[in-house]
Amino acid sequence: MKIRIRFAHFFIRVGRFIQTLAVPVMRPDDLIRFSQEHYSLLRTVQGWTADDLVATWLTPDEKILLEKIPVRTGHLLLLGMGGGREAIPLAEKGFEVTGVDFVTDMVEKAKESASRHGLTIKGLVQDISRLDVPSNTFDLVWFSGSLYSCVPTRKRRVTMLKMIHDSLKTSGYCLCQGHLSRDQKKISIQDIFRKLFAWITLGHIHYESGDKLWGNNEFVHEFSSLDEMRSEFSEAGFFIMDSHIYEAGLRGAVILKKSGSLL
Ligand SMILES: C[S@@+](CC[C@H](N)C(=O)[O-])C[C@H]1O[C@@H](n2cnc3c(N)ncnc32)[C@H](O)[C@@H]1O
Repeated sequence: MKIRIRFAHFFIRVGRFIQTLAVPVMRPDDLIRFSQEHYSLLRTVQGWTADDLVATWLTPDEKILLEKIPVRTGHLLLLGMGGGREAIPLAEKGFEVTGVDFVTDMVEKAKESASRHGLTIKGLVQDISRLDVPSNTFDLVWFSGSLYSCVPTRKRRVTMLKMIHDSLKTSGYCLCQGHLSRDQKKISIQDIFRKLFAWITLGHIHYESGDKLWGNNEFVHEFSSLDEMRSEFSEAGFFIMDSHIYEAGLRGAVILKKSGSLL
């Protein structure tokens, strides 16, 4: 009997591993599209644009982050706007908000919700991993939640950061959060198999340890450490003003400044 129970556990583990091959079989554009399909579902749009969620406004952590920078007004680029939970209070504080989201319905609902509050916000329907915004325009770029983790491959994240760097005014700031891994181990045997599978299927050949599908719904890259995140910001030319970890080590937040600028 014991051997049969062992077999049972083995098959459960194999089943879980096979499920994780959903990530390496997709190319980066597929991973983004996979997430976009989830966020475009009617029930997902309804969830993120519901009045009671939007009315929760900024979280205490977000308020603290905002207080740490000297920017109080000006042009703000919000990445991952959803139904406007952050956009509306930020516009109310006096920012001129441009919100980006890859789901048209989210952008439309956020604008409608803002106008019900007597506010105007601009909306752009774009995938942030292919962000296209004008140079030298924004005083603050704000990643919603841990959206930075939703962009596959280090190369794409750094390219996006360079675009954000370029879009900031000389004294501009960027507030960015990302998911951190529970498991500090850099690379596992399963990761090696996943990478091999990516090459065999010509899928996500730049697969990184920490790449996964959250709730089998959306792509996230969990960073092995805050230093892994910090190295990407430095590569993109940002000056790191402050960084810290919260949520029992599961989220990292970084305050970035356009390098070489005066306060
Ligand atoms: C977790 S929801 C947060 C919504 C809102 N900011 C809030 O906190 O209530 C993430 C939002 O980011 C958008 N999003 C996710 N990945 C994106 C991407 N690559 N480009 C643009 N928008 C993205 C989703 O459509 C969704 O509206």
